[in-house]
Amino acid sequence: MNTAIKNHERPIVVLGASGRVGNVVARHLLDKGIAVRAVARHTEKLKPLEEKGAEIWTGAIEEQDFMNTVFTNAKAAFILTPGDTASPDLHEEQRKNNEHIVTAIKHAGITHVVFLSSWGAELAEKSGTIYGCYLMEQLLNQITGLHVVHLRAVWFMDNFIYNIGLIKMAGINGLSIDADFSFPCIDSKDIGVVAAHYLSVLDFTGKNIHYLQGPRDYSMKEVTKILGTAIGKPSLKYIKFPKSVMIQGLKSSGTISANVAQLLVETNEKINASKVHGEIRTAANTTTTTLEEFAKNKFLPAYNNEKKPSFFSKLQGAFLRLYLSLTANNA
Ligand SMILES: NC(=O)c1ccc[n+]([C@@H]2O[C@H](COP(=O)([O-])OP(=O)(O)OC[C@H]3O[C@@H](n4cnc5c(N)ncnc54)[C@H](OP(=O)(O)O)[C@@H]3O)[C@@H](O)[C@H]2O)c1
Repeated sequence: MNTAIKNHERPIVVLGASGRVGNVVARHLLDKGIAVRAVARHTEKLKPLEEKGAEIWTGAIEEQDFMNTVFTNAKAAFILTPGDTASPDLHEEQRKNNEHIVTAIKHAGITHVVFLSSWGAELAEKSGTIYGCYLMEQLLNQITGLHVVHLRAVWFMDNFIYNIGLIKMAGINGLSIDADFSFPCIDSKDIGVVAAHYLSVLDFTGKNIHYLQGPRDYSMKEVTKILGTAIGKPSLKYIKFPKSVMIQGLKSSGTISANVAQLLVETNEKINASKVHGEIRTAANTTTTTLEEFAKNKFLPAYNNEKKPSFFSKLQGAFLRLYLSLTANNA
């Protein structure tokens, strides 16, 4: 229990408090002695925050009454627009979730919000999984008197952890992003630190956009070299997957719907086309954690934790490599 937290202090709501960014936000606020109302659907994942002194609120964004209660009497909030990877219609799910959150913010009269947005959130055209962030920025900007910071974060380095299964199964790394195209990547924890700072100081006014772009841009070839070196496979090869292979691969994970697979590939394509992009790099949008540090501190432990592939999945991996070598002109 954090004894520095005063019982009478109005808490800061942290949605997705057991997630990658929300958890860092909640921990940093608690470390500063600030009261936190930690929200997610699964209690057990919130327990460590309760031990640090947070109020634990278990429930879903989909439940409007629950959301209204969550925001009541809160001082400020960290919010996000999560989506289920198994959703048959992610944009519709994001639209509804956004409305529930915004209704609750208005109901409670919250004055300060930090929103975990995304690069590409300025695009009104449907840009893959990012579209939900566009919708949310629009909704928040329409609330008179609300002070908000949209944290437009770029590609999370953490996304590369989802490729561990592929690396173990097929001995290659792959996405639908061009091999030599450089784009910004950020460690999700660096976003949490910035969000917690905004929420602890609460000195922002009006509607603001703050891009967070990681330490530098990386190409997938560089990413693969860095991650491969960290796991003892410095010659790991990156292959740009054709759209159909990428979609099939995502769907065969068993946790990603056809709709979300399509949207994820669409996001990759918008990155290739520079439609989804960051802004000119400055000290304010550059964060510190390098991909080498991420590889050592997050990727390697995750790689070591993932179970060995079965004989059958190694066979599938060999077929995938063969198929790609026959169909694609990859470097
Ligand atoms: N990945 C990227 O490259 C990228 C780039 C820019 C922006 N973003 C944004 O980052 C966000 C994801 O942040 P993250 O990585 O920190 O999330 P995360 O690690 O996936 O965690 C999601 C959190 O939200 C909770 N949650 C999920 N669905 C919920 C629901 N229906 N009701 C209540 N709580 C729910 C989860 O806990 P429970 O499951 O227990 O509920 C968990 O605490 C996305 O919304 C995306 O827009 C991502």
